[in-house]
Amino acid sequence: MLRILIFVSLLCNVFGYFTLPGKCPERVNLKEDFRLAEFYNDWYQTYSYSSDGHRHNNCSVLNLITKPTGIYLNQSRVDRGLFHRYSVGRMVIPSDIEKPAYLDIEFQFENAPRRLKTRRYPFRVLATNYNYYATVYTCEYSPLIDKHFIYVWVLSRSHLLNEVSLALATKPLQQIGVDPAKLVKEDWSKCQPKYYEDQATEPMTFRYPVPI
Ligand SMILES: *[C@@H]1O[C@H](CO)[C@@H](O)[C@H](O)[C@H]1NC(C)=O
Ligand SMILES: *[C@@H]1O[C@H](CO)[C@@H](O)[C@H](O)[C@H]1NC(C)=O
Repeated sequence: MLRILIFVSLLCNVFGYFTLPGKCPERVNLKEDFRLAEFYNDWYQTYSYSSDGHRHNNCSVLNLITKPTGIYLNQSRVDRGLFHRYSVGRMVIPSDIEKPAYLDIEFQFENAPRRLKTRRYPFRVLATNYNYYATVYTCEYSPLIDKHFIYVWVLSRSHLLNEVSLALATKPLQQIGVDPAKLVKEDWSKCQPKYYEDQATEPMTFRYPVPI
């Protein structure tokens, strides 16, 4: 019974979350010769797009961390203007050296059932010049309802992005069918949280553990 309830509640969420018809965009041209080593240090979300229309990832800051076990991405956000939260996932470096921007990110969910403990999501770099802007997206597909979800980060090394950088950063979005007019601008004046959490939490940009 509980299983059915969980399934039904998952299903309801799925309909709200996956809204774009069909599979994730294919044959997308990502950043050529992407160099992860130059992607270190803080990146601020200046614009974002979430295909479900929700804003769960406000004031996001992304930065890479090197640990003995690999390279990790630390993604922080401000929840309801109050709580500073972050999530850490391991970057999965593509084995094909010809495709350096085809990154994945892997999260560990300790309390989840065994087969759902490790969850992997795409983290694809569409464009960057390392010093000013970067555009990254993730996509999840639901075979069950044949729809997908897309989240786009338009990142900057500062809280703002100049017009030239913005144009370069948003140009490749047409490949994934995202209209730049739908990007939501981040208002950094509303990003002063009261409370800092010192434990990693679930990322809001990567949601479903299993293909459903
Ligand atoms: C992640 O970044 C935030 C700041 O954006 C910081 O407060 C937090 O300690 C970082 N977490 C780790 C594990 O480095
Ligand atoms: C994100 O910011 C928007 C606009 O300020 C707000 O409506 C929304 O509730 C925020 N979301 C979260 C999860 O904090």
